[in-house]
Amino acid sequence: MIDEYAGLIKEEDRLGLELGLSEIIINAIEHGNLEISFDEKVETLKDGMDALERLRGSRRGNPDLGRRKVMIESFVGGGSIFWTITDEGGGFDFEKLLDPNETCNLETPCGRGIFLARMQFDSLEFSKSGCRVRLGKRFAG
Ligand SMILES: Nc1ncnc2c1ncn2[C@@H]1O[C@H](COP(=O)(O)OP(=O)(O)O)[C@@H](O)[C@H]1O
Ligand SMILES: [Mg+2]
Repeated sequence: MIDEYAGLIKEEDRLGLELGLSEIIINAIEHGNLEISFDEKVETLKDGMDALERLRGSRRGNPDLGRRKVMIESFVGGGSIFWTITDEGGGFDFEKLLDPNETCNLETPCGRGIFLARMQFDSLEFSKSGCRVRLGKRFAG
């Protein structure tokens, strides 16, 4: 996904972009397609990462949720590279996103993905429903 644009991306930006993209793709799977809510995730993580992995597995076993797909597209335009990540979930109200500094502590890996992705890209926009995220990164030249 990033390799395709190797000539346009500075070597030092690469890791950050990969990290940001993977956070958004994981969200599309976990929260979007598998419909695991923020509260469910926080509650489940109290029993550790294994418990979250079991919850993901059981959702995947649901015939409706299990066959959902994430679509990833990319294109170049107006001096930026854009990636769009679209899931088949119910979307969410991204305007109500909580500040990770308030909701999370160092031990709980929750509520930081979008915050992190925003830091790596020049733009991060949700579609109206929240099922699609568009990430943009400007390139020089
Ligand atoms: N694709 C999505 N579909 C539905 N809800 C989402 C999606 N992406 C993010 N969210 C919501 O935004 C919250 C914050 O996401 P994020 O910052 O990645 O933290 P985390 O995934 O650890 O909860 C999620 O808990 C979820 O409620
Ligand atoms: Mg996340």
